[in-house]
Amino acid sequence: MLIKTDRPIMLHRKKITQKIANFWDQISEGWQMIWGPHIHHGYYDDSQFITPIKAQEKLIEKLANIVAIKSHDKILDVGCGMGGSSCYLAKKHQAIMTGITLSQKQVALATQQAQAEGLHNITFKIEDALSLKSLEDNSFDIVWSLESCEQFFDKGLFFNQAYRVLKPGGKLMLATWCSSCDEYEGKFAQEYQKLCLAFDLPYMPTIEYYRKLFTTQNFLLDFSEDWSKFVKKSWDIGVSLLNAYSFLQLIKMGGWRGFRFAKQVKLMQMAFHQNRVKYGIFVACKPR
Ligand SMILES: C[S@@+](CC[C@H](N)C(=O)[O-])C[C@H]1O[C@@H](n2cnc3c(N)ncnc32)[C@H](O)[C@@H]1O
Repeated sequence: MLIKTDRPIMLHRKKITQKIANFWDQISEGWQMIWGPHIHHGYYDDSQFITPIKAQEKLIEKLANIVAIKSHDKILDVGCGMGGSSCYLAKKHQAIMTGITLSQKQVALATQQAQAEGLHNITFKIEDALSLKSLEDNSFDIVWSLESCEQFFDKGLFFNQAYRVLKPGGKLMLATWCSSCDEYEGKFAQEYQKLCLAFDLPYMPTIEYYRKLFTTQNFLLDFSEDWSKFVKKSWDIGVSLLNAYSFLQLIKMGGWRGFRFAKQVKLMQMAFHQNRVKYGIFVACKPR
């Protein structure tokens, strides 16, 4: 078996979109109890002790610096999860945030979080990243996609829409899991397929694929790096936190889906440690 990582292995966009929405509806509350409000890696760069939440905020802060967020920038948080990034950027950078997700549950949790923190310039709603139907052309300073693109059925369609809604001079920030190869064969193809099916990833292209995609979609690529070595510790910590939870607690929080998810976390831990998955960071600008 040979699998190319630049094209979907799941063929029904509508079905996979619904599956992703259901998945986050079921898992988000349980996730929040175990890991807190962020659904992304943390940044670990030295031996100093840092809590997982501080490491996640550090990752956001590093990305915010590269994008050079200014006070009152209008930011679209695509695949906003439970609003972790949106609330952080609204609080620390006075950004005006719109968060979109496929999951009604996440909209509710993110809205609750913003209200609890007394944040006003922030809204959350259901919207598909591949159409951004309710959003106007040239309306955002920044499009922020933190670990959501891996679940998009068509990365090119998303880039196209991000370009449309960005103001001239606006920036797209993308932090996403990437494959280490253009194609996998035999045992590695099976591992790749298992990983994609476990995390609802229609396909997971390489860092080089994304670099080219920015250029073909008329973006100017300002920054692109592999941050795998800074983030992969997150999976070890994630697994150890999960181990502290009992079988029954996991089922109570997310049903069988919750229990299955716990097993899948170990799959990804292994993939990062074997360098089969990379963590790509990109910032690109829409020309003026
Ligand atoms: C791993 S979570 C990341 C959440 C958030 N960015 C964070 O870092 O906490 C992936 C998110 O992408 C969203 N997502 C996946 N496919 C999407 C799509 N086509 N349109 C909008 N959101 C999508 C999911 O609903 C989920 O909120």
